[in-house]
Amino acid sequence: MPEPDEIGIGLMGLGVVGGGVASALLDPESAISRKVGRPVTLRRVLVRDGSKERNPAIPRELLTTNPEDILDDPGIHIVAEVIGGDQPATRYLKDALSSGKNVVTANKEAVAKHGPELMSLAHQNQVSLLFEASVGGGIPIVGCLMNQLLANDIRSIRGIINGTTNFILTRMAQDHSSFEQALSEAQARGYAEADPTNDVDGIDAGYKLSILASLAYHCRFQPDDIYRQGISSLEANDFRYAGELGYAIKPLAIASYSHGAVCARVHPALVPLDHMLAKVDGAYNAVEVEGSLCGNVLFHGMGAGRFPTASAVVGDLIEVARALAGGPSSPPVTFAQHGMASDGTATVGVAPVDDLTSKYYVRLTVADRPGVLAQIANILGDEGISIASVIQKDSDPEQQTAGIVITTHPALESSVQKSLRRVRVLDVVREVNNLLRIED
Ligand code: NAP
Ligand code: HSE
Repeated sequence: MPEPDEIGIGLMGLGVVGGGVASALLDPESAISRKVGRPVTLRRVLVRDGSKERNPAIPRELLTTNPEDILDDPGIHIVAEVIGGDQPATRYLKDALSSGKNVVTANKEAVAKHGPELMSLAHQNQVSLLFEASVGGGIPIVGCLMNQLLANDIRSIRGIINGTTNFILTRMAQDHSSFEQALSEAQARGYAEADPTNDVDGIDAGYKLSILASLAYHCRFQPDDIYRQGISSLEANDFRYAGELGYAIKPLAIASYSHGAVCARVHPALVPLDHMLAKVDGAYNAVEVEGSLCGNVLFHGMGAGRFPTASAVVGDLIEVARALAGGPSSPPVTFAQHGMASDGTATVGVAPVDDLTSKYYVRLTVADRPGVLAQIANILGDEGISIASVIQKDSDPEQQTAGIVITTHPALESSVQKSLRRVRVLDVVREVNNLLRIED
């Protein structure tokens, strides 16, 4: 393709993130064109509802509700997709790549579900596909795994990669907000997904972890390969007990490599109060990567919100635009060129969570009478699980019940799950309220 004199951008989506991208591209003070070395122009913006008032205000003539106005415009060289969700966004991404347009996307769902197909389309059409904003908002973790950390064998990735759930848990722990209040505030601030169950149930973090693990281990992790536990079972008691035990509760995403397989999981976990991840609050994200050469590297920053996410999208736009401005000799940037198998071939296996060894926190409501603890301890002992501590505090004299919390020494997940199935049916046990992993 000949070098364009002017690089045209087609923006798909003008919501929280799209608004930030449009502001940056339309800002007369912006240095984007200077950084690229060529004029960079926003030519068209696709929205669903053409009659909505827009903030920031966008010249009316740029707006369209017809995707073909972007896909068929030969003056558009890069499509930035910030619609989100699987369809129609994935169809637009494929159409853009197939018609020879470079693509930048913030869409973790599309990349997690269709990454290899999108990459091979980019490869076939010799165009770029970048997706920095799909994980960690303004934190440059995707590019680092694709480039700067390539020399390492990645031993583990451990982090907080969903701003909404971190915001909710922080509010519940620090201000004693209800789950519902904290979620509404996260939605009002533009952190939450269109369907916030994607955040709360760990689906969003699962998409992101599958992208990070695919890049780190050079094979394909599907969203279904990720074990998920949401945050909705957490109650005020859990934060109180965790604090007494010296822990914060954080929404973690972890991929760890051992003996040729990676165990990838998303769940709330107890983290020691003096660990760096315990101090990451609000909508902040943090990702700790352990590499064979670099040791532990920590990335920290705003994981959601208009401008942090726009930073990642516009950064990708500049990188692609620079490659275009460099002319045909500059290679397009694609996954395939970063060594990731685009055919989905797995070189690393997926380890089931059943094989995980971890410490555990179990909260139960039991009958408040002698011998109850002994029955529970017997079952745990039978399954080879060693108890580290027991707390009993909350008694309900009317119901004649008590709340107890047991923590364990390292134990096999499958044994813990088996023992809880046995504990649940004891007639002295009213409820197993929560099972959380402890990440020391
Ligand atoms: P959003 O506020 O809901 O905005 C979505 C935009 O897409 C809206 O402008 C909407 O048009 C447009 N749209 C929706 N369906 C469409 C369709 N069928 N055809 C044409 N346009 C359509 O979403 P967002 O929060 O900006 O998120 C966008 C993407 O960024 C998602 O993939 C999300 O996961 C990702 N992301 C978001 C954040 C964040 O903090 N929000 C952070 C990182 C990544 P109307 O305005 O006309 O309704
Ligand atoms: N809903 C996502 C979050 C947006 O809360 O982290 C950023 O991807």
